[in-house]
Formats: sequence, C-alpha cells, structure tokens
Amino acid sequence: MTESAPLARIGAQAAGEVKPGMIVGLGTGSTASAFVRALGERVADGLRIVGIATSNETQALAQSLGIPLTDLNSVDTLDLCVDGADEIDPALNVVKGRGGALLFEKLVARRASRYLIIATEEKLVTRLGTRLPLPVEIVQLGWQHTARELERLGLAPVLRTTNGDSFITDGGHYIVDCETGAIDDARALASNIKAITGVVDHGLFIDMVDLAMTVDSNGTVTTHESSGS
Ligand code: A5P
Repeated sequence: MTESAPLARIGAQAAGEVKPGMIVGLGTGSTASAFVRALGERVADGLRIVGIATSNETQALAQSLGIPLTDLNSVDTLDLCVDGADEIDPALNVVKGRGGALLFEKLVARRASRYLIIATEEKLVTRLGTRLPLPVEIVQLGWQHTARELERLGLAPVLRTTNGDSFITDGGHYIVDCETGAIDDARALASNIKAITGVVDHGLFIDMVDLAMTVDSNGTVTTHESSGS
C-alpha cells in the first residue's frame, strides 16, 4: 500500500523518536502504519528494537518488514508507544478506535512510559465528540441490552458492520459507534461507559498521551504538548 507524503513525513519523524534497545508499541491505522514502515526501514538499516503490535493487522505489517516482535506478557513496560487517533483535544485527550483496535491499543499504551500520538491536522478538535462517533467495544452476548444501557447515558449506539456483517474486533467483540455530540466531561463519560456490564472498553483515552504530533497537507509537522484539562 502506498501512503501520502504527509503520512510518510510524520511516520518518519515518529520513527526518529525510537532509540536503540527500546521496546516499542506499534499502533494501528493508516498513520501508525506509516510509522511502522519508517521504523521497518531503520530496523533494516541495523536499529535493534523490539516491537509489540496493537492489532493483528499491525503484527502482519511489522512481520513483513522484519521488525522483531514480542508480546505484552513478556515485558513489564514499553519505552514508547506510537499510535494514531481520530480526535485530539487541547489537553491531549484523544478518541481512538475508528479501525476497531481500541482495546489492544489501550492495553499496550497503558504499559508504555511514553505515549506519542501522530495524526493529520484535521484530527485536532476543541472538544472531543465533534468529529466522529465514539467507538465502544462490547461483548457479543446480549449486546442489544448493553446498547440500551449506553442509550440511557444519552448516547446513540449503532452496531458497526462491514459488508453487511457485524464487525468483529481482534478480541472477538462487537463495536458500537455512539453519537455523543461535543463531550462536556470526558472523564465522567469514560467512567460511566466503563461501568456498564457488557462493555469491554471505549475509545476515550484520557490522561494517557504525553506528546502529539500533527502533520498538515504540506508535510509540516507540529508538536503539541498538553495545555491541561
Ligand atoms: C485504530 O483502531 C484506531 O484507533 C486508529 O489508530 C485511529 O482510528 C486512527 O487511524 P488513522 O490513522 O487511519 O486515521
């Protein structure tokens, strides 16, 4: 697959953050794939690192590039995790999961000492919930009951499908995409969603991101530090 010049640019810049000997989380999606490809080039040039993939798709990509991989249980911490996002707010809280990998992405990111988000600049928002519906990963059993519980929180869940079939995550679950409107209190919403039996996890990544980089259509990369929340 070819990728755009801006994605290649930000992927290469993120790959420059990887130092010899690191254990690195490899995100999922088109932007993270640009990073994985750039990292693969550095590995081919002799950089010694170990990666941990956040999805089956990324695992296959990393393997095809010759990036050595290990699994999450084999390490205590990762030095760095690099991933994409669907929305980034000024406090660097993000929404993820458009590609359906949010659970494994969050599991890997939580173990990382440093979490770097890379994205095209249109992902920057003043309020989360304004670009795309919020993905929520739920167990298949009784999923409609879980969806009704989400409705009681004021959300509008829609079961994600691909080619007419229910989308199944790498963890074997469903995703419901929930219209939220601009989210007033992302922390409270995250905690209310997580408290529902049947919810596995959601796409709100709160207080997790250390640094974000965005790229514009000219390939100019901008670094964002959290402005607090
Ligand atoms: C995968 O489930 C997602 O969290 C992606 O990281 C996110 O949707 C960003 O994807 P793109 O880089 O493809 O926009």
